[in-house]
Amino acid sequence: MDWTAQYAIRTRQMTSSAIRELLKLCEQPDFISFAGGLPAPEVFPVEAVAEVSARILRESGAQALQYGATEGYRPLRALLAEELSADGPAVGIDNVLITTGSQQAIDLIGKIFINRGDAVVVESPTYLAALQSWNAYGARYLSVDADEHGMETDHLEALMAERPKLVYCLPNFQNPSGVTLSAERRAQLIEIARRHEVIVVEDDPYREVRFEGEHLPRLITLAGGDGEYNGEVISLGTFSKILSPGLRVGWVIAAAPVIRQLVQAKQGADLHTATFNQMIAYELLRSGELADHRRVIVDTYRARRDVMLAALEESFPPGTAWTHPEGGMFLWVTLPEGIDAAAVLDHCVSEQVAFVPGQAFHADGSGANTMRLNFSNAAPEQIRDGIERLGRAIRRFLARQRVA
Ligand SMILES: Cc1ncc(COP(=O)(O)O)c(C=O)c1O
Repeated sequence: MDWTAQYAIRTRQMTSSAIRELLKLCEQPDFISFAGGLPAPEVFPVEAVAEVSARILRESGAQALQYGATEGYRPLRALLAEELSADGPAVGIDNVLITTGSQQAIDLIGKIFINRGDAVVVESPTYLAALQSWNAYGARYLSVDADEHGMETDHLEALMAERPKLVYCLPNFQNPSGVTLSAERRAQLIEIARRHEVIVVEDDPYREVRFEGEHLPRLITLAGGDGEYNGEVISLGTFSKILSPGLRVGWVIAAAPVIRQLVQAKQGADLHTATFNQMIAYELLRSGELADHRRVIVDTYRARRDVMLAALEESFPPGTAWTHPEGGMFLWVTLPEGIDAAAVLDHCVSEQVAFVPGQAFHADGSGANTMRLNFSNAAPEQIRDGIERLGRAIRRFLARQRVA
């Protein structure tokens, strides 16, 4: 069978993530990888999950193992609505959908909004797996550059002439760059979106992983008016970074009609998110255990970021620059202009260290001289060692280029 000839047109637009391909390489022992986006395995609250799982099974076992509503486990939706209403617009239960990770929310948004050829505004760089999802729906990307204050919103107005369907924004400690959108730009983004009636997708998995500084207002908060939430922002959250990505529990907050449409799309995808997993997330959130655990994660990642920043200072050659994220899991390195990070990666394999070359995160194909480094997954001594190896590989690469 010639399978390629059988696939739908959308399948031909699907690409394999460069990161997943790379991760296969990194499985060798002694390999130090800054390539993945994995949380630190040592900080998973294994005991707390074991205890709460046993209790749920004992007290509500049949419900935990039964099919559930597509909208999600009602107590979890209510609690999320209550938490968001505390510092934002009035969010009711009808504004909340539980999804199988926020990745599913990204895909469902593509499914209900994006027609082939529709323009979608993305930051440059942006989250790779959103591009992967929306490629299948035939999205056409309009890239907006980002600096150390996030998306350069001054350039947005000019793009509105193309009538984009969505503006996709990662406001906090962006994946891949680690930068945070400033308060002024948040306000400007919402003002432009409102005036042009354009949907804003706020993808915010790292908000609670802040190491320093004050929280900035959510985009959905800025978009909320009086009464029940009905604004143009669709906001995505997840338990992946503060509890466990393996549980696959995330959520969408949006105007009620959008939630209803997403529910229909989700029915066709997976009927509902795992009931048991939602109950675990709910119990840990309700009891306050998650808030306590979040501090462990923040302290661990802050220490790892600091080790990486110090090691970069020590080991990387002059002419390289990097971001100083106030939270999250990634930082972003810019090599001298004209250096291809993918070629540098080839040199890194012999040093047994890996990162993700930055070009894949740019919808417009730019960013060849950039790289993403993850600091959450490797232990501090590995980070020191790995950055030294990486610095050595870059210097060797630069020296060879000078000779050639
Ligand atoms: C920006 C961004 N959005 C969405 C996701 C998907 O997260 P989830 O595990 O909730 O599906 C990630 C995961 O790394 C991410 O970095």
